[in-house]
Amino acid sequence: MYPHEYPGALWYDQEEVDAVSKVISNKSPFRYYGVKCDKEVFNFEKELGEYLSTSSLSNKNQHNKVYVTAVNSGTGALEIALDVLGVGSGDEVIVPGFMWISSISAIIRSRAIPVLVDSDQTLGVDPEDLKVKISERTKVIMVVPMLGGSSKIGEIMEVVRNVNNSRKKDNLSKIFVLEDCAQSLGAHAFGIPGSSQASLPEGCYKLGTFGDIGTFSLQLNKDITAGEGGMVVTRDKELNDRVDALHNAGYIKKEKNNINWYGDIPYGWGHGRRMSELQGAVARVQLKKLDSILDNIRKNHSFFEEFFKKQGIKLRKRAYQNNPGDTGYYLCFHLPENLDDNTAISKGREIAKDLKDKGFNVWFLHDFEVHIYYNIEPLVKKFPMNDGSPWEDPKNSFHTQYKYDRGALPNLDHLLIRTIGLNMPSKMSDNTRDNMMNDLLVTLKNLY
Ligand SMILES: Cc1ncc(COP(=O)(O)O)c(C=O)c1O
Repeated sequence: MYPHEYPGALWYDQEEVDAVSKVISNKSPFRYYGVKCDKEVFNFEKELGEYLSTSSLSNKNQHNKVYVTAVNSGTGALEIALDVLGVGSGDEVIVPGFMWISSISAIIRSRAIPVLVDSDQTLGVDPEDLKVKISERTKVIMVVPMLGGSSKIGEIMEVVRNVNNSRKKDNLSKIFVLEDCAQSLGAHAFGIPGSSQASLPEGCYKLGTFGDIGTFSLQLNKDITAGEGGMVVTRDKELNDRVDALHNAGYIKKEKNNINWYGDIPYGWGHGRRMSELQGAVARVQLKKLDSILDNIRKNHSFFEEFFKKQGIKLRKRAYQNNPGDTGYYLCFHLPENLDDNTAISKGREIAKDLKDKGFNVWFLHDFEVHIYYNIEPLVKKFPMNDGSPWEDPKNSFHTQYKYDRGALPNLDHLLIRTIGLNMPSKMSDNTRDNMMNDLLVTLKNLY
């Protein structure tokens, strides 16, 4: 078996053990108070905010504050984000067809209708199709950079700013951008943050900080992990106050001068989404390791990129060709373009199976479970919630124009049956890398 796709967990060592032990010894696992609460979650929020507000390439000393609220999962982060942005019945939320089921379930739970947007060659949101999919009902555009690939967020923000400018003239409400960056913590991109006006100069910024809100996950398969966990980030202080309140039963808890144990100021009906000090302590240690983890993944990615190029095999297109901001978590290679659909599917399955049998962490994207819109049965069949929402809600009667079976997104469909994703380990000896390369060569020679 080649190394697992658990980047953060494979970097666990005595530091994480000590951090957790301290919380236990202090008998203080709750974020706001305890016998001796060291405010691990609070400090994690502060440190992640600093990390996200500096780019690895430029704008290093720029003042561009990012607020962070730590929560207990990436799914919860999405649910809170949509709630804070005021999404409800009658609204459309634009979402890519390559994501994770939580991106969709959060929309359904908010009682809004998901509208699928197609992908371009990067496997991310296609800015051109986005222009077509925006309607008067669009409330939020969810961008989901997948497998560590940076999205064309700069172009997407440009599209949204233009649309928002004309909506303002027509007295229509603003469209928000929500970046679901569960799979791309540490990736960066180029462009201008801000969905209604440019809030900073053009430059290089971390993914998750371009739109109104960004969300992240600390689940096991992510760049860093606390087993479970999530984060909601924003540059907007007012939005941050609402996120802060809604993750904590609806109340803002000020650090100083708080009267009640749960908080001081009621904002609305809340969620139970606080992160524990145990998670916070581990997350703080992991955050310090993030750039080293990504350096290693990127090195291995470049090595295999060269290997595939030598074989004449086409790779997933990067959003920023000359200055990639991807984390490189997966390397995606394409099957020959001239294959018809059925041959592509059987060949893709055969290659993926052969590589899995050899111990690779690999996915044929067409079969990548509920990362793919047409594999999500509850979406295709429009499963309702207890009250019939969102499909039976009279305010959502327009949903009949939207279908979610395969065929809804022609460009993405074409790519999915011609793409194989290979996990790039963050820890791998030269020997393992050579063995992987030799095994790959045999598979490609026999089956490609
Ligand atoms: C793109 C994406 N969004 C959301 C999530 C949900 O995160 P979590 O598992 O922490 O709830 C995940 C990961 O599982 C993900 O990959």
